[in-house]
Parts: sequence; structure tokens; C-alpha cells
Amino acid sequence: MDRQRLIVVSNRQPYEHRWESDQLVCARTDGGLTAALDPVLRRHGGTWVAWGSGSADQNVVGPDMCVEVPPESPAYRLHRVWLTPDEIKGGYLGYANQVLWPLCHITLDRIHYLKAFWPAYRSEMHRFANAVLEELDREPRLVWIHDFHLALLPALIKAERPTAPVSVFWHIPWPSPDVWRILPERREMLLGLLASDVIVFQTSSHAEAFFNCTHTFLGAIIPSSRDRVLYNGHETRVSVRPISVDYRVISEHAVSSSVEQAESVLRQQLGFRAGVRLGLGVDRLDYTKGLLKRLWALDEFFTQFPRYRGKFTFLQIAIPTRTEIGTYQLYGDLIRETVNDINQRHSACIKDIPNEGNDWIPILLQEGRIGFDDLVALYRMADFALVSSVNDGMNLVAKEYVAAQVCETGVLLVSQMAGASEELPGASVINPYEIEGLAETIKGALEMPLDERRRRMRRMRSYLAAHDIHAWVDGCLQDALVGAQT
Ligand code: F6P
Repeated sequence: MDRQRLIVVSNRQPYEHRWESDQLVCARTDGGLTAALDPVLRRHGGTWVAWGSGSADQNVVGPDMCVEVPPESPAYRLHRVWLTPDEIKGGYLGYANQVLWPLCHITLDRIHYLKAFWPAYRSEMHRFANAVLEELDREPRLVWIHDFHLALLPALIKAERPTAPVSVFWHIPWPSPDVWRILPERREMLLGLLASDVIVFQTSSHAEAFFNCTHTFLGAIIPSSRDRVLYNGHETRVSVRPISVDYRVISEHAVSSSVEQAESVLRQQLGFRAGVRLGLGVDRLDYTKGLLKRLWALDEFFTQFPRYRGKFTFLQIAIPTRTEIGTYQLYGDLIRETVNDINQRHSACIKDIPNEGNDWIPILLQEGRIGFDDLVALYRMADFALVSSVNDGMNLVAKEYVAAQVCETGVLLVSQMAGASEELPGASVINPYEIEGLAETIKGALEMPLDERRRRMRRMRSYLAAHDIHAWVDGCLQDALVGAQT
């Protein structure tokens, strides 16, 4: 398949132009989806259709609504879609982020359903469909749709261009029929997706849950091969392809002079004393990431193992996300309060010990975006990285950490509810609900013998070297090719 003839469609765009004090700035956006797909389009070219969410996005596009990105070395076209305030509020912030997101992550108390969300979501979908149809008019290509924001898009495209190959990658978990039943539009959503030729999930349990939902709510037929859904004379192939990272780029960057420099600056900025061990979390400030449970476990760790006071710091990078939504604001407040409370209690215990207690901070919460050099430097520095999601499609931080661990001395702790735990057998798999158990696993990570750390990390690194983002794309495009032929 000719990759230059690819149309990637997602809600979030890979680059955002914005005004910052009268300066036009172009920045990469956050999130696993854009981090994974940008290297693919940079390498192969193509077109990416996405919402133009930046304050200066309209200032830089041509009459075709496109801009070449990345700005420093243009490699592919970004076709921006303009959403109305109602579509943003009801579609993206409402139906996608306050209904589908908590539903699929089975954080059911966070669901906030309003009737007005659905028409806004539908109308948003028509805007994306128009942009994709314009692209198909320029040149017929494979349409590769990403994630829960765009579930109705396959049906809208197929209604206009029945022969256009359409493939979907679902980045987040898919829940069982007992959970999907909650959604008033459960049938419409399934019909929207089933119009595609191929749907790809992160794990086999997500694919299995999808089969069960199509059977339960539409009466669709699932053959015993369990690789397709038959409904109303149409066949949709279903496959499983766990998304990955650009292993080679991250590994090579980890030994670059810019990362070495970033590391020494960070050590100074963060005030790490020599010998203080470091744990690391890097997450969007999202309740699905299990940050509160992580903090409770760290509290328990410092209580159960007080000898680590003054000798271990946990650095949490918290990237702001969906801040317009009340649930996210409250969650951010709760995380800040909990960090302050833990820090006060544990640092008070050792503040009188000379050379030890004066400047020790148990948990360093750094809110904001983080640059690639700093991110890779932190991955290299950290004695362990902790992923404690209560549910997660994959979690690419886990894979990035492994890719950056060129010295093979770190330990990965990953939630059994994150897709990454199924693939990385060298990781310590944790249950984020088992707070005391997690505290013990943190101690285990800090005390793990070097040869065991090396053995585990090496195993994960060789797996990831072979199963990187480019292997994932090859697999997805292979599925798309087969799907388009059937
Ligand atoms: O991976 C799930 C996801 O929703 C992606 O689609 C998205 O890039 C990321 O999380 C960040 O969320 P948002 O696009 O709402 O900022």
C-alpha cells in the first residue's frame, strides 16, 4: 500500500498554531495518539485531517484549509476542520469526553450525559466527513480513522463513497455489553463503526467485548474464526494490533548530547541531591490514570518504609488536559491537595535530621507540558516509572520509558488494566486498587538486584525493537488491504 496516499483522521491534531503574547507559535500537541502517528506521517507523508483547535490555526492554512507540517521540515499535509462552539462544547467536551470516555474506561460515576450532546457530536461528525470527502475528491486514498471521537464517521463516508477503503483504529478500551448498555445511542454508534471495512483494537479483550456488543445490540453474526462481524450484508474485519512507539528514535535520542545536557539542568532545577532515588510518573491529568491511588500508595510506602524518607523522591509530571470540564478541574484540585498533605506529613518527620531533611520533597508535582529532551532525560534518570491507570487502551509512557532506558537499569511498574501490561513481560504488573501491594512493589523496584533489572529491561527492549510503531503501521495497513479486498 502506498503510504503517501493515506488520509489519517483524528480529532486531535499533531501540531497547533497559537498566539502567545503576539507571537505565532507552533507546538506539538499532547496525547498518545498524536505522539504515535506523527512519526509515521513524517516518514511516509500523506494527509492528516483534524480539528483546528489553536488560536492561530486559521492564520496559517491555505485556501484548501491545509498547512504543511512539521514547520521546521515539512513532511505531510495537515487539513484542518473548523468546529463551532456548540460542536466543541457538546461534541468533543460533551459526548466524547463526558460520556464515551468514562463509559469506555468504566469509570461510570464520571459519566455526565445531556441530551444536547448527541446532536452536537453528530454535527461535528458531518464536518469531519466533508473534509474527508474533499480529500477523496482530490485523490482516492485509504481513510484511516482514529478513536472514539469519530465513531459515526465511517458510515457518513461510506454513504457517499461506498467503495472508498475505510479503516478504524480504536485507541481506548471497549467495554462489555453490560456497560455499553448505558449508552442511549448504543445502536447508532455500533452502526456508524460497522460501516468501515476494518476495525482494529489494542487488545483481544477489547475486540471480544466489541463482538459481544454487536451481537447483543444488533444481532450481528460473529463467525467462529472471530475475526469479523457480519451485519446486514456487510462484513467488517476485526483485528488486534497494540500501538507502539518509535523505539529507534527514542533510543538514539537517549544517548544524544542534548539529553545529557537536559539531564544535568534537570538535576539542578529539581534540586536532587546525589544518592536520592527517583520514581517517575508522566500522565495527562486525567482520572483514568489512577493518580490518586498512586499518591495513596506512595503515602503508604513512606509510612511502611520510613528509611526511604529523605532518600527517595517521586516526580509526577502532570500534563493539563480537558481543563474546561469540571470533573477534570476537581480532579486536579484533589491531586494538588493530596500531594501537599503527603509532603507535609512525611517531610515533617525528618526535618531535624542534619543534611537530610531540610530540602527533601517526597512528591514533586510538576504541572505543564514537557519537551522531548527533558522527557527522555527523565526516563533515563528514573529508577522506576509507574503507570497506575485504572483502565487504559495501551499507555505509551510505559513503552517510551523502556525505549529510553538505554542503560537498562530502570524498572517499569505497569497497571494490569493498561494494554501495555499484556505485552511487556519484564514489567512489574501492579493492581492500582491494591494500595499496600503497590507500596511493596515500589520498595521491590528500588531494591531489585541490578542483574534482574537488566534482564527484565533487556527483554522488554528487544520486544519493543521488533514491535515498534512502524511494525504496527505495517500490520494495520496490511489489515486495511485485506479488508478493502473482501
Ligand atoms: O488516547 C486517547 C486520547 O483521547 C487520544 O485520542 C488523545 O490524543 C488523547 O487521549 C488526549 O486527549 P485530548 O485529545 O482530549 O486532549
